[in-house]
Amino acid sequence: MKITFSTPSQPRSGTLVVGVLKGGQMLSTTAALDKKSGGAVSRAMKTSRFKGEKGQWLSLLAPSNLPLNRLVLLGIGKAKDIDDKRLQAAGGRIVSMLAKKGDSTVRVAVDAIKESPIRSSDMAAQLAFGALLRSYRFGKYRTKEKTKDKPSLKTLMIQVRGHDAARKVFAPMEKTAKGVFFTRDLVSEPSNVLYPETLAKQAKTLEKLGVRVEILNQARLRKLGMGALLGVAQGSVHPPYVVVMQWKGAPKAKNKHPVAFVGKGVTFDTGGISIKPSNGMEDMKWDMAGSGVVIGLMKALAGRKAKVNAVGVVGLVENMPSGSAQRPGDIVTSMSGQTIEVLNTDAEGRLVLADVLWYCQKRFKPRLMVDLATLTGAIIVALGTEIAGLFSNDDDLAEHLTEAGEAVGEEVWRFPMNDSFDRLLNCNIADMKNITGTRGAGSITASQFLQRFINKVPWAHLDIAGVTWSSKDKPTVPRGGTGFGVRLLDRFVADYCEKG
Ligand code: BES
Ligand code: ZN
Ligand code: ZN
Repeated sequence: MKITFSTPSQPRSGTLVVGVLKGGQMLSTTAALDKKSGGAVSRAMKTSRFKGEKGQWLSLLAPSNLPLNRLVLLGIGKAKDIDDKRLQAAGGRIVSMLAKKGDSTVRVAVDAIKESPIRSSDMAAQLAFGALLRSYRFGKYRTKEKTKDKPSLKTLMIQVRGHDAARKVFAPMEKTAKGVFFTRDLVSEPSNVLYPETLAKQAKTLEKLGVRVEILNQARLRKLGMGALLGVAQGSVHPPYVVVMQWKGAPKAKNKHPVAFVGKGVTFDTGGISIKPSNGMEDMKWDMAGSGVVIGLMKALAGRKAKVNAVGVVGLVENMPSGSAQRPGDIVTSMSGQTIEVLNTDAEGRLVLADVLWYCQKRFKPRLMVDLATLTGAIIVALGTEIAGLFSNDDDLAEHLTEAGEAVGEEVWRFPMNDSFDRLLNCNIADMKNITGTRGAGSITASQFLQRFINKVPWAHLDIAGVTWSSKDKPTVPRGGTGFGVRLLDRFVADYCEKG
C-alpha cells in the first residue's frame, strides 16, 4: 500500500475518512461536511450508537448533498488521550475497515485538534505509520484467491495542513516499517523454502543498503570452535551458517564499540532426537524469529540511516533428528571452551546462542548486547502472547528496553536472575548441562545458561516465543508473523544509542 500526503481539498468522489471525538464532537472537516450535507452527518450519528469513542466507526453510503460515495466517521476518543499509539491504532483501523471494500484509493482528513498538544502533521505521520503496518500481508502462496478476498486498497491519501512536514516525519517511519515487513516475511516463510542457506542469502540483500554482510560457513564455524552450535546442526542436511551484519552509521563516534544484536535462527525445530509432539510442530518454522528480528532491525537502521554503529549476528541451523543427529547425553565443547552435556536436544536455542554470543563479544567488544530468541515455551506460560520476557545483567539497559517497548507498544517484562537459578545448571560430568532437570523457572534457567557465556558486557535477552506469532488481528499487526522486536529495538537505538 502506498501512502501520500497532500493539502486538504474539497471532497471528491470515492471514500473519505474523517474524525469525531468522544461525545460526538466533530473535527473541522467533519463539521464542514455536516453543514454542506444539511446535517446528514449529525442525523446519522443520532440514529446510530456511534459516539466517537476510540475504535468506533460509522460508514455513510452516498451521503446527501456530498459528492462522496462513502463517508466514514472514525471515533478517536477523548482529545486529551490522543497519543502516538492511539493514532497508529486509528490508522490501522482505517486499513482493516476499508482494505477489502472495493476502493483502491481512500482519503483521510487529519484535522488539528485544539485540546491536543500534538501537531496535525505529526498526527498524520503516526496515523500513516499505523496504517502501513496494518496493511502488511503474506500473500505470495495464495494463487487461487477470489477477487473479493484480495485487498482492493492501494493508496491511502492523507490530507493535512503541513503535508510537507508530515512527509518528513513519516520518511524514517516508513523505513522502520520496511524492516518490520522483512522480519514478518522471513518468519512467515515455510522451512522448505527458508533454511540456513536461504536465510543467509536474504540477509545478504541488506548489502544494497550499505550494510556489510559476512556469511561464515560450516568450515569456518569449525575453525572457530563453535561446537555447541555445530552439534545442533549436525542432524540436518542443511549446513549451518553464522551471518554477521555491520552498519556503520556513526563513523566519527567517540565510542568505537558498536551496539550488538544477536538472534536465534533455528529455521525449524523438531526438537531433534528429543523430538517434539507432532501437534503444533508446524509453529516451529518460526523458531528463527530472533534472527529474523535482527535482520529486519538492521534493515530498518540502514534504511533510515541511523547514526549508530550496530552489528547483528545470527546463528542459523536446522534442528532435525537423523542418523547423524546429536544424542541426549552428548558432550559438546563451546567456542568459549566450556563444555556442555546436552541432556535434551530440544533445548537447542541456548546452544546456538552460547557460541554466537561468545563470538560477538570476542570479535566486536560491543558496548552493549541484546539477544532475541524464541527460547522457551515457559515464557508463554508466564506472560502469554502480548508481552515478551526480559532478562538482563544491567539495570539501565533493562530500563531503557522497557521504556522503548512501552513507547512503541511492544512491551517487555523483566524477570529475576541469580546464582540459585544458575546453580541448577551445574553438571557432574561437564561444566554445565543444557537443562536443569527440575520443574519450574524454565525461562529464567535458560537465561542463566546464556549468561554463562556473557563477559561483563551490559547484556539483555528477550524471550519472544510468545509474541512472535499472533493468531488474531491487532490494530497495527495483522495476524501471523508480528515482527515483534524490530520497532522496540529501532526505538531503543534512536532514543539511547544514537545520542552519543
Ligand atoms: N523453540 C522452542 C521454544 C518454543 C516453544 C518457542 C513454543 C515457541 C513456542 C525451544 O527450542 C524449546 O524447545 N524449548 C524447550 C526447552 C526445554 C526442553 C527445557 C521448551 O520450552 O519446552
Ligand atoms: Zn527446541
Ligand atoms: Zn527452539
